[in-house]
Amino acid sequence: MRRKLAAGNWKMNGLAAALDELEAMSGAAGGAAEVLICPPATLVSQAVAAAGDIAIGGQDCHAKASGAHTGDISAEMLKDAGASYVILGHSERRTDHGETDEDVRNKTRAAWDAGLSAVVCVGESLAEREASNTLDIIAGQLAGSIPDGATGHNLVVAYEPIWAIGTGKVPTTDQIGEVHDFMRAKLERRFGEGVGRSVRLLYGGSVKPGNAGEIFAVSNVDGALVGGASLKADDFVPIIEALG
Ligand code: G3P
Repeated sequence: MRRKLAAGNWKMNGLAAALDELEAMSGAAGGAAEVLICPPATLVSQAVAAAGDIAIGGQDCHAKASGAHTGDISAEMLKDAGASYVILGHSERRTDHGETDEDVRNKTRAAWDAGLSAVVCVGESLAEREASNTLDIIAGQLAGSIPDGATGHNLVVAYEPIWAIGTGKVPTTDQIGEVHDFMRAKLERRFGEGVGRSVRLLYGGSVKPGNAGEIFAVSNVDGALVGGASLKADDFVPIIEALG
């Protein structure tokens, strides 16, 4: 049985005062669904201290454990700060920083070495969807971004169609279901049925209190990776509650 996961990606948003939101979110955590917040790196330690029943994660890590990489953060550092997850391969990192599947795979390995669970993101652009290439793109990203050695504990996969991120546009439930069923089948084929069935698959892209219930009813959707609506407890708590 996969435990549902409501994950919030704060992206480059949040000063210390934003952590006040965690108290109300924590009230909704500790139930059937696991709750994860990934604040900016500057807030990870403070978030851990304020988190209560919420797990805290980073938004990226370097592929190396330490060294001459000014401005970067290692998985070991996130772990040391109290994080238990790290988001990797988000489309904003793939676009803004030119991250390739190979980069994401190396970072995922580093996250596992440090004892973090990786939330690996995949998703197609609008042009790729319109060219009917969605499943090929997803297959390539899954194969390229996830190293051997995945388990239901160290890996979460988030399907985030790029055209749905921050746009208010959401795929139909059929479109979400098609991709999630496809990802489940790919993971089962590569890692075996036991592991493939235990990896949680999140949907991300304009998830709001008003559409969460409908999305969570889709087969093989085990929760959500939420951007904008994870910043405020008033928005995120109903999403957590929609997971039951
Ligand atoms: O990682 C979450 C994300 O990219 C979705 O963002 O603001 O559309 O919920 P948003």
